[in-house]
Amino acid sequence: MPIELVKTGIKGLDSMLDGGIPRGQSVLLVGGPGTGKTSFAMNFLYNGALNGERGIFISLEEKPDRIIENCMSAFPDWKEFRGFVKKGKINILKIDKWSYEGFIETINTNVSQYKATRCVIDSLSIMELYFERPYEFRKKLFDMMNFLSTTGCTTLLTSETPGSDSMRAAHPLAQYVADGVIALYKLEKKEKRVRALEILKMRGVGHSTDLVPIAFAATGMKVFEGEKIY
Ligand SMILES: Nc1ncnc2c1ncn2[C@@H]1O[C@H](COP(=O)(O)OP(=O)(O)O)[C@@H](O)[C@H]1O
Ligand SMILES: [Mg+2]
Repeated sequence: MPIELVKTGIKGLDSMLDGGIPRGQSVLLVGGPGTGKTSFAMNFLYNGALNGERGIFISLEEKPDRIIENCMSAFPDWKEFRGFVKKGKINILKIDKWSYEGFIETINTNVSQYKATRCVIDSLSIMELYFERPYEFRKKLFDMMNFLSTTGCTTLLTSETPGSDSMRAAHPLAQYVADGVIALYKLEKKEKRVRALEILKMRGVGHSTDLVPIAFAATGMKVFEGEKIY
């Protein structure tokens, strides 16, 4: 059976992915602070909702109101966004006290009752703080990735790196276990910094390996396929 590809709907990206993300896969979004991980993840849910796919955004960092405000200021052309949130087509949940069991239950409920097919977990870096030992976190992360692969949801998980131009120390186990890894950067170019993206890994598709510029546009994030950074 041919694999079904889920379109991110982010301009320029789906053709770099050779169509999209294979349905049900988990993709890690790695990048430094302010590289656009949260925004990218919401683009994925918004574009899904425009096509009738329900999404769930599990935030361990920002409150739903803040996320909505930030998205509306970055993407003023998202006319349907507030409506999607109101109707639960994009369900933004803030988790204040993370537990593995609570998390699994939240995902199960959203998948079975609300038929969510796109999921975002923002971020693994905050989730990690709930564990005393690195080993415990890695073990649960492995369990969680296995669990996610059984839900049928196409999932984005964000992971914060210390610098905005590297992906050092960004959850190597998660990168290895995830079906896909997309890295976001802010690179130094003379006196300014340019936003960029590369697909490091995506199982099941012959994706581009180019490092390409990206930008925030009123209609959503844009990827400049085929363009050079320098
Ligand atoms: N309207 C906008 N135009 C350009 N950049 C924006 C706009 N709104 C927000 N940003 C950028 O997005 C960044 C925050 O993006 P976010 O998705 O929260 O990043 P991350 O989750 O990786 O920290 C801000 O630092 C800012 O540079
Ligand atoms: Mg963020």
